[in-house]
Amino acid sequence: MKRAEWRSRLGFIAAAVGSAVGLGNIWRFPYIVGEGGGAAFVLVYIMCLFLVGLPVLLSEITIGRKTAKSPEAAFDQLGKWKYLGRMTIFTGLIVASFYSVVSGWTLGYLIQALSGGLTHFTTATQAENHFTHLTSSYTWCVGYHFLFMLLSAGILYTGVQRGIESWNKVLMPMLFLVLLGLVAKGLTMTGATSGLSFLFSPKWSALTPTAIMLALGQAFFALSLGQGTMVTYGSYVSKKENLPSTCLPIATFGLFISLLAGIAIFSIVFSVGLKVDSGPSLMYETLPLVFSKVRGGTLLAVAFFALVFMAAITSQISAMEPMIAYLGDRFKWKRHHAVILTASLAFILGIPCALAFGIWSDFKLFGMNLFDLTSSLAVNILIPIGGLAAVLLVGWRWGAKKAFEHIRLGAEDFTNRYALFMRYLKFSIKFIAPISIIIILLGIFL
Ligand code: PHE
Repeated sequence: MKRAEWRSRLGFIAAAVGSAVGLGNIWRFPYIVGEGGGAAFVLVYIMCLFLVGLPVLLSEITIGRKTAKSPEAAFDQLGKWKYLGRMTIFTGLIVASFYSVVSGWTLGYLIQALSGGLTHFTTATQAENHFTHLTSSYTWCVGYHFLFMLLSAGILYTGVQRGIESWNKVLMPMLFLVLLGLVAKGLTMTGATSGLSFLFSPKWSALTPTAIMLALGQAFFALSLGQGTMVTYGSYVSKKENLPSTCLPIATFGLFISLLAGIAIFSIVFSVGLKVDSGPSLMYETLPLVFSKVRGGTLLAVAFFALVFMAAITSQISAMEPMIAYLGDRFKWKRHHAVILTASLAFILGIPCALAFGIWSDFKLFGMNLFDLTSSLAVNILIPIGGLAAVLLVGWRWGAKKAFEHIRLGAEDFTNRYALFMRYLKFSIKFIAPISIIIILLGIFL
């Protein structure tokens, strides 16, 4: 059976951008920017994205394209690192499990927004109670987790080209248009400038080592690195494709969307004089309160939650695809069966996370509930290890020289013209990226 391949270069870029742009960019990024020093943080984030993120992204896509295999076999072929490859597939599955829980809330809120149920709050406490009431109901949480997983599985079921590629090509432009609409609305509201100054005024003192590590971790999560996703998406790229030039738009577009989301969210929130809060409450409490206060709130609420939903589902499918590809490559499973098993596993693994806000909220380990525990394990530990494995494989084990010979395929003109940029990428893959990742990991363990 012939292995799947993207129909076009644009299709691949749309899928990779769809994977990158998710809850991490639209919801987490704006908040950590505001907290972490505004423009000062954005500057550090951009450096992390291009100094470390881009080289890791290129490494992962190259591993995939060279081998045309899913992560386990790919890591095995290039460096006999089968177990590390398998670990990244497992990381993807864990991400798919908790990601679907929060994304399920988004779907639930979208449906509420459509029926006008999100615009009747007069105080912050009401919006908060509404959120606590919903997330502590296990039928609501598990129900929407299930529905979201079902929709994701539906897209994956129809295949790489007809499912992943086609849906991303539709959802990404739609997401962009809705986001532009929200930015336009935000910027024309009174008081928008205080939101912008929260987001962009440089506060150098907030730029602590912790904030810098947060920026690096965010760059990893936002580019969907370290969890088999980009290796798998790379394995569907044709040998004729110019890899370095496709990595650039993926990183840049992700950054651009994050900044626009920040502008939209903060100009809207500050225009009604509210302060932003951390964690889920920004998206599920503060914003609904704002939507209740402004004119056209219902439409705004629908647009916002539709935006987040589109961003989430295109990322969700990319977290599940490595496992699906693995079952197909390794055990010759039919795609349909692989999708059903992967979605069922991710659904079951996600149930404890879904219950962590309700009946199992008292269950804590290291001071964290099951949701925080699972997401921190993935984001702070497994993802950096997966990214480290990819750059060490490309830079040292397989070898930068051989890897860059492969990268030249389909990119001769580009690599000749931008020889300096290519040299820099090679240097970062060998030194800057692994050293930075080791520093993040040490920072967590120390
Ligand atoms: N890149 C996604 C985000 O920023 C995170 C993610 C990565 C989700 C890979 C799923 C798979 O939200």
